[in-house]
Amino acid sequence: MSDKLWGGRFTAKASEWVDEFGASIHFDQKMAAEDLEGSIAHAKMLGKQAIISSDESAQIVAGLESLQQELTAGNLTFDVKNEDIHMNMEALLTEKIGAVAGKLHTARSRNDQVATDFHLWVKHRLPHVMSAVTDLQSELLSLADKHAGTIMSGYTHLQHAQPITYGHYLLAYFNMFQRDYERFEFNQKHTDILPLGAAALAGTTFPIDREFVAGELGFSDIYHNSLDAVSDRDFALEFLGNASILMMHLSRMAEELILWSSYEFNYIELSDDFSTGSSIMPQKKNADFAELVRGKTGRTYGSLLALLTTMKSLPLAYNKDMQEDKEQVFDVMDTVIASVKIFTGMLNGLTVHEGQMLAATQDDFSNATELADYLATKGVPFREAHAIVGQLVLKGIQTHTPLQKMTLTDLQAAAPQIEADIYQILASETAVNRRTSLGGTAVTNVKKEVTRNYKILEER
Ligand code: ARG
Repeated sequence: MSDKLWGGRFTAKASEWVDEFGASIHFDQKMAAEDLEGSIAHAKMLGKQAIISSDESAQIVAGLESLQQELTAGNLTFDVKNEDIHMNMEALLTEKIGAVAGKLHTARSRNDQVATDFHLWVKHRLPHVMSAVTDLQSELLSLADKHAGTIMSGYTHLQHAQPITYGHYLLAYFNMFQRDYERFEFNQKHTDILPLGAAALAGTTFPIDREFVAGELGFSDIYHNSLDAVSDRDFALEFLGNASILMMHLSRMAEELILWSSYEFNYIELSDDFSTGSSIMPQKKNADFAELVRGKTGRTYGSLLALLTTMKSLPLAYNKDMQEDKEQVFDVMDTVIASVKIFTGMLNGLTVHEGQMLAATQDDFSNATELADYLATKGVPFREAHAIVGQLVLKGIQTHTPLQKMTLTDLQAAAPQIEADIYQILASETAVNRRTSLGGTAVTNVKKEVTRNYKILEER
């Protein structure tokens, strides 16, 4: 017989290096607290249901509780020969209370145990992700409030398109992070389901009480199919998918922070505590942290792809492949929380060069649409208006004259419908403030949106 907990039907011992390959204790010890929590609930239930005696249940629970204290004190050491956190804990419990520890695994398998630990681990941490997202949103909102009227160029294809406000830009991200938040809420609903009681795959002949265990562990739902319970890793994939979308949003904004703090743009400046210098070039102030968030987005996608690929085509129910699920989720949990926090800090210390932003909208022909729209309202078919303004822009580029600096005579030569009120229309402030359509960039709209979004955060 081998010396393994499951060694009964084995005659030979595996080599140490083979054991190493199969073990997960070096990473799944992160779920030590959840493993103890799950075992305590299970042991209480076994006693309550008289599956084991109440005295045995009490001994097991006491032993597990003292392991909890040792874990908190940092006094537990794990052994790779016990493969994973589940068998390490059982071995430690046996050392502590003797043979009665062997009754803990009644009506339970490592398959429903690992699923329970993993659900608990994610369930405990999703609220941290969500509160970090809330902090980021609230930072964006106060910045948008402050910059509801700060005019800047809006871009398409990274070319000047039409003037917008910086507040409007910030609220676009607020809304993206709002959807991210909601995705994590839904993710929590799918994580908040108890697998324990599914046993290996088919349920158990013991008269267990899963509702009781769910209550003890704070799960609001229970898997109603034992095969699904031990096979499902959707909640983990959903987390990785949601985290990937969130990181994608961060990476887009990171890119803009990096670009906009360059010499050429000079729209913003990151605070010293969120920048780094160069070891050779004394003048450098680099947006390293924004770059790192942008970089960590790739790492997050990698984890999503890794787990999707691991799960692809796996037959039901448990397969050892699934041991590969945890490292991806552990890593992304740290990555995503830290990245969101870094972003909140970066935005908090941000200096906005309002004059520079406004100046960039003055000579850039981003008011060309205003003139075309103006002609259209005077009855010129829009296509024709577009062509007339295109010609004027071409002339303006050649003579370095923006539309609002052209004389009325020159403008009228191109289109006689143009009157003196055009100069007011061509100002970027006017271009912004006339865009009062629902969702448009007008300052009044942005202010209303800020108020509406404050309410969303207050009610959260
Ligand atoms: N360490 C394993 C994992 O992380 C636990 C479940 C093992 N179950 C089994 N039947 N081999 O997936």
